[in-house]
Amino acid sequence: METVTLSAGTPEETRDAVTEAVTLLNKGSIVALPTETVYGLAANAFNAEACTAIFEAKERPCFDPLIVHVSSKKMLDSIVNIPPDIEETVDILIREFWPGPLTMVLPKKNIIPDIVTAGLQTVAVRRSKNPVFSEIIKELDLPLAAPSANIFGSMSPTSATAVHTELSNRIPLIIDGGACSDGVESTIIRIESTERPKPNIHLLRPGPVTVEMLKKFGKILRGQDSQSENKRPNSPGQLASHYSPRTPLRIVNCPENFKADPSKSYALLSYRGQEKDGYLSIHDWKEIQILSPGSGKLPEAAVRLFFSLRKLDESGADEIIAEPIPEKGVGLAILDRLQRAAL
Ligand code: TXA
Ligand code: MG
Repeated sequence: METVTLSAGTPEETRDAVTEAVTLLNKGSIVALPTETVYGLAANAFNAEACTAIFEAKERPCFDPLIVHVSSKKMLDSIVNIPPDIEETVDILIREFWPGPLTMVLPKKNIIPDIVTAGLQTVAVRRSKNPVFSEIIKELDLPLAAPSANIFGSMSPTSATAVHTELSNRIPLIIDGGACSDGVESTIIRIESTERPKPNIHLLRPGPVTVEMLKKFGKILRGQDSQSENKRPNSPGQLASHYSPRTPLRIVNCPENFKADPSKSYALLSYRGQEKDGYLSIHDWKEIQILSPGSGKLPEAAVRLFFSLRKLDESGADEIIAEPIPEKGVGLAILDRLQRAAL
C-alpha cells in the first residue's frame, strides 16, 4: 500500500488534510495523525475491524490496550461510566488538564469493542490539544483509538518523517502537522477513592503532566498498581524493553566511570552538552545529540528526546551512552523512557 503524506501547514492545506483524514476514518481506514505528545495511529474506536488494523500495522500484541481520544465531555460520557466516588476528581482533572497530555483509565461502557481494551473492563481516555487532531475528531464526531504510530517496541514518532520511517507502506495516510510540542507520550493515571478527602492517583506512566502538577489533586502512587485488573502490564511502560532504538543504550550515571572499549564506537546523548559536567571531550563520539543545550530545560529535552534517539540510532555507533536527566518535572518521563530503552 502506498502511503500518502498530506501537510497541514497553511489553513488551506489543513482543510484538505482534515477532509481526507475524516473521509478515510469514516470508511474504516487507519490514519496517522499529529498530537501534542507523539504521532498517533488512529481509527474509529467503535469499529472493531478498523482497530484490528491498528494492531496489525503496528505488529502490536493484542494484549496491549489502546488509548481512546475524545473531543468533549459528552463524548467521554458516551464511552465510560465514571464511578461516583471519583467523579469530582475526574471533573477537576478534566478542567485543569484537558485538552492536554493526561490519560485517565476509567471503567468502559460496552460500546467500546473488546479489541480496543484488550478485554479489560477499563479504557484509557484522553483529549488531545493538537489543533489538527482536534479538528479531525470534531468533524468526525467519533472517539478515536490511537496508540503511538510506531512498530511495537520501537520509539514513538514525533514527526511525520519518523512515522514514515516506521509505517510507510502499511498505512494509507499520514497527516503532517509538524513536530510534536511535548515530545513524550501522555501521562497515564488511575484514580482510586480513599477515606481521606483526597484520592490516590496511581501513576501508570509518567509524562508531560508531571507529579508536581498532579499532587495537589491526590496522593501520587508509583510502581505496580495492585488494584489494576489481573496481572497484565497495566501500562505500556511496564512491558520490558519499550521505546527502544535498535542500538543498545546505556545510562552512565557517573561520567568519570565511562570506559570506552577501543574496539567499539559510541554515540552520546547529552542533556546540556556543557564541557564542565558533560562528556563531550572525554571521547571521540561518532555522533552527539544534545537535548537542551546550555542551562538545560526539561520540556525542551522532552521535545527532542525521540528525535535525538533516532539520529543516534542512525549513526551506526555500536552503543549509545546517555547522560542522566534530573528526576523532576517531565525529567521523570524522559528518564523512564531512557531506562526502558536501556533494558
Ligand atoms: O500520548 C499518548 O498517549 C499517545 C498519543 C498518540 O495519544 N498514545 C500512546 O499510546 O502513547 P500507546 O498505545 O503507545 O500507549 C498507551 C498505553 C498502552 O500501551 C497501554 O498499556 C496503556 O496505555 N493502556 C491502555 N488502556 C489501558 C487500560 N485500560 N488500563 C491500563 N493501561 C492502559
Ligand atoms: Mg506506544
